[in-house]
Order: sequence, then C-alpha cells, then structure tokens
Amino acid sequence: MQLQTPYYLIDKSKLLQNMEKIARLRELSGARALLALKCFATWSVFDLMREYMDGTTSSSLNEVRLGHERFGKETHAYSVAYADYEIDEVVSHADKIIFNTIGQLQRFEKQSSGIIRGLRLNPGVSSSSFDLADPARPFSRLGEWDMAKVEPVMDMISGFMIHNNCENGDFDLFDRMLTAIEEKFGPLLKKANWVSLGGGIHFTGDNYPLTKFAERLKRFSGEFGVQVYLEPGEASITRSTTLEVTVLDKLYNGKDLVVVDSSIEAHMLDLLIYRENAKVHPNQGPHRYMVCGKSCLAGDIFGEFDFPNELNVGDRISIQDTAGYTMVKKNWFNGVKMPAIAIRELDGSIRTVREFSYADYEQSLS
Ligand SMILES: Cc1ncc(COP(=O)(O)O)c(C=O)c1O
Repeated sequence: MQLQTPYYLIDKSKLLQNMEKIARLRELSGARALLALKCFATWSVFDLMREYMDGTTSSSLNEVRLGHERFGKETHAYSVAYADYEIDEVVSHADKIIFNTIGQLQRFEKQSSGIIRGLRLNPGVSSSSFDLADPARPFSRLGEWDMAKVEPVMDMISGFMIHNNCENGDFDLFDRMLTAIEEKFGPLLKKANWVSLGGGIHFTGDNYPLTKFAERLKRFSGEFGVQVYLEPGEASITRSTTLEVTVLDKLYNGKDLVVVDSSIEAHMLDLLIYRENAKVHPNQGPHRYMVCGKSCLAGDIFGEFDFPNELNVGDRISIQDTAGYTMVKKNWFNGVKMPAIAIRELDGSIRTVREFSYADYEQSLS
C-alpha cells in the first residue's frame, strides 16, 4: 500500500553514498566532519550517519542538546548569541563551545571554563551569491574580523571557526579563499590547536576533486599545526530525500497548472526565500505544468516542469533533493497538513518514522 502524501522520503542508500565520500575525505585528509544540525536534524537516520561522521555542530541550545542526546560523539556548540539563562545547559551538552564574539567569550568566561573554547573569525570573503546568506556581507555580525582585538584573548581559546563557503562546488574558489584566510589570520592560526572551516563546501558532488580537496586540508593542517574540522550540512544529505506529493486540482490560466497537497512556504521555505525552483526528475516530456502549492500565498509555486504524461488529479510527483533546510524549517502556515517523514531502509523497505496530526498543529499554538 502506498503511504499517504505528503511525506519526505529519506533514502538511506543515497545517504550512504554521501557518507562514504565523507569517510573517504576524513581518511585522506585527517579532517573531522561534524553534521550541521541547522541543515538537517532528522535523528531517525543518525544511526547510519554516526558510523561515518565525528559528531555534530549546532546553532542553539536546542540543537546542541539534540546533537548530544541523539547523535553523540563530538558535540560543538556555536550560536550567534547565548542568553544568560541557557549558557550552563549549553556547556553541559558540549565538548567545545565557539563564541561568535569576544564580548560573548568574556561574558561567559567563567561558565565555559570547563570545556574547550573557540572564537568565530570572519575573513571578509565568501562564496555566497546571495546577500541574504553572505556571512561576509558589509556590517556582518558573524564573527570577529580584527586580529588586534583577538590577540589579547588568545589565552582563553584554543581554536577558531571560520564559515565563509556557501553552496561552493568550485574547489579552486575554496582554495583561493583558504589562501586568503591563511594570509589574513596566519599568526593567529599558528597559535591554535584546531580550526573548523564550517560548511557550505559541496565536496560530495559528482565531479568534486575529493583528493585535491583532502590534500589542501592536510597541507593547511600541517602548516598551522591544527586539527581541521568541517561542518557539512547540505553536503551530508544532498540528493538523499524526496518530498512526495499528490495532485489535488488542475486548471488552465494561460498555462497548465496543478495544485499539490504541499506548500513551498510551509515545507520547502528556502525555495521562496532564495527564489529558486524545486527539482523534478527527469523533467522531460511534452506536458509542461506549473506545479503550485496549496497555501493561499499567490507565489507558492514549486516551479514549471516537463512530464512524459498528462497530469491528473490523484497523480503523484516526487520533488527531488529535499533534505536540507526543509524538515528543520517546516511550519504550520495555513494549517497545511505537515508531511510525514519516512525512511527507505537499505533493504528497500519503507517505514514511516513520524506523522503529524491536528494535535501537533494545535499544540504549536495556544
Ligand atoms: C557555521 C555554519 N556551519 C555549517 C553550516 C552548514 O552549511 P551547509 O549546509 O551549506 O553545508 C552553516 C550554514 O549556514 C553555518 O552557518
């Protein structure tokens, strides 16, 4: 029997392909890989991911707790800003804490003295093509820029986090930016024991030169005497998941449109934020449709795609590549039915691990 849509379907055998590349990179480079929970935190597949990755990194108290309790291994805590009322609990779940500013480091010096501490640096260059997601944008609050200010607090920290790659599948660009980091922060890096180079590097992509990447990381590690960490989010889970939806209605308004039982605003919010199209495979055939979400937002549109056959009410569509920044961002706008989460196990069997009901909607409000 087919599961009722909408649901996210995580395919473990596809996830495994990314995991094997991560494991290979770790082996070749000596770098450690931490899953960025902000991108993907569906803990039902952590049993598989744990075998191939070193732990997790986080952006809040909730994430660091989830990483500690559900993934285990190394747990990095980072947040743009911690509140007084949460810092003790954050520290209790982490084995490293990375502060975003010197101000936060000094404020929480006492509470964090029992674990390894680091600071986020901002090199002022990034690979982002979106102002919205560019950590090095003008007046950015993400990390410290000024070496002269960092020098005096070096006795409080043993490492750094530098996240400036965004959706970067270009090794040469990564290489150039790392060289810029070496030139800008070299003297500080020499004093560090570890450096996390953040996420945003698409090294699990098909044509990415994994060996060259590993060599570059190894050289960086050797030159500065640091343990390198990476924080792959998207690279860990890319192409592992689909969002399965059903056509609810058809209409023609100058174009052929179909309305499906999901919503980009509620279930794939980043498409809306970054004004991108969803992906449908193979996106070929003589029948072109604009696939629309069912929320009331006029621009709730997955995109226009080509299909081999005419679409009819009841037909199913698989939206591709829907693991990253989807399940962690989904919301109850319009009260649209929340997609269930299902897993295709390595033996091909499919099991639903979570369904959401009216009670979940009601309890998200009061
Ligand atoms: C500090 C940090 N680490 C890791 C990531 C994960 O990035 P990605 O999912 O692009 O690999 C992000 C994304 O914003 C980030 O800000």
